Amino acid sequence: MAGNGASDIDSLLISEFPLLPGLVYLNHAAVSPWPRRTAETVKRFAEENLREGASRYPEWLQTERLLRGQLAGLVNAPSIDDIALLKNTSEGLSFVAYGLDWRSGDNVVITAEEFPSNRIVWESLASRGVGLREARVSHVHDPESAILEATDRHTRLVSVSSVQYASGLRLDLGRLGTACRERGIAFCVDAIQGLGVFRHDVQAAQIDFLVADGHKWLLGPEGIAVFYCRPEWRERLKLHEYGWHMVEDMGDYARRDWRPAAGARRFECGSPNMLGIHALSASLSLLLELGPETVERRVLERTEHLFERIRAAPSLDLVTPTRSGRYAGIVSFRHRSVPNPVIHERLRKANVVCAERLGGIRFSPHCYTPLEQLETAVAIAAG
Ligand SMILES: Cc1ncc(COP(=O)(O)O)c(C=O)c1O
Repeated sequence: MAGNGASDIDSLLISEFPLLPGLVYLNHAAVSPWPRRTAETVKRFAEENLREGASRYPEWLQTERLLRGQLAGLVNAPSIDDIALLKNTSEGLSFVAYGLDWRSGDNVVITAEEFPSNRIVWESLASRGVGLREARVSHVHDPESAILEATDRHTRLVSVSSVQYASGLRLDLGRLGTACRERGIAFCVDAIQGLGVFRHDVQAAQIDFLVADGHKWLLGPEGIAVFYCRPEWRERLKLHEYGWHMVEDMGDYARRDWRPAAGARRFECGSPNMLGIHALSASLSLLLELGPETVERRVLERTEHLFERIRAAPSLDLVTPTRSGRYAGIVSFRHRSVPNPVIHERLRKANVVCAERLGGIRFSPHCYTPLEQLETAVAIAAG
């Protein structure tokens, strides 16, 4: 970003997030507000559709290509052909679950605190004789070892969230990916709670599959997700959705013979979500303009600020681990004597938007959240 000084960044963020006065939005781990540029893009897209229909479809395709490039860069995919645009995280996990050629007796390893989307899909394979093993990672000194210890010679896949949705625990993807590759186990990452906060490098971390929806830390709308499939897996993953868009010779409608697209477009069966594509691309343009390192630093600053404030409140106990490298944008805590639903309701009444998850109150600010709002929110929760 030009200038790149702290005040340039602050004024850009103030103008991009004109949230209602008094609203304290600490729920980016659920659904984020859109930046101004995303809202403007959607308004322009609506107006264009109103006035011109899809006359400028070739330009829309350029935006689609731009988005694939933005996402490929964000996860360091070797090529934009490794990126598919899906509807959500659950769809990507399902593509992996129903694409692999399971043998009865195989198993999948996840953590014991995964979001339902990264558990149910593996449980659904029970009828094929695929087992599920859950590693306990909370209050454990070395969560990666706990996950790897849960594997055995029948483990075909390890599937974890890069950041656990309730506790906020961040995993060391590089360590897991390297160990999985050595053991011949495929490695799948649900990146929805981490992508947009810190770098997920699919090559360095030896990730085979990565999926993340756009509506949390990427600041985009719901219903548009990135799916990375390592090129070596592409042909091996059995397809389950077919249509005009996933064939190699897309657009040659008269042609009767077909084969799946060589690239990750093979996972996109029909018409793309053009509205979502325009919106997510606009949101990513902000994150890229700020610079991923700046975004990460600012999110972690806010997390650490919350840690400090919560530690200083005698009535509150932190749930999120505070060791460096173990947290991202989620901070969960409990009140020592007041039940979570009561605290959550108290916060809601005070215009603090946050969540109650797995026995904790979850705050999740983003890079633009004013620090003083964090102090206000903790004071309300502690009071
Ligand atoms: C870790 C995790 N995975 C998946 C999801 C759901 O993703 P989607 O709605 O994109 O399928 C969530 C939503 O909260 C989540 O926290």
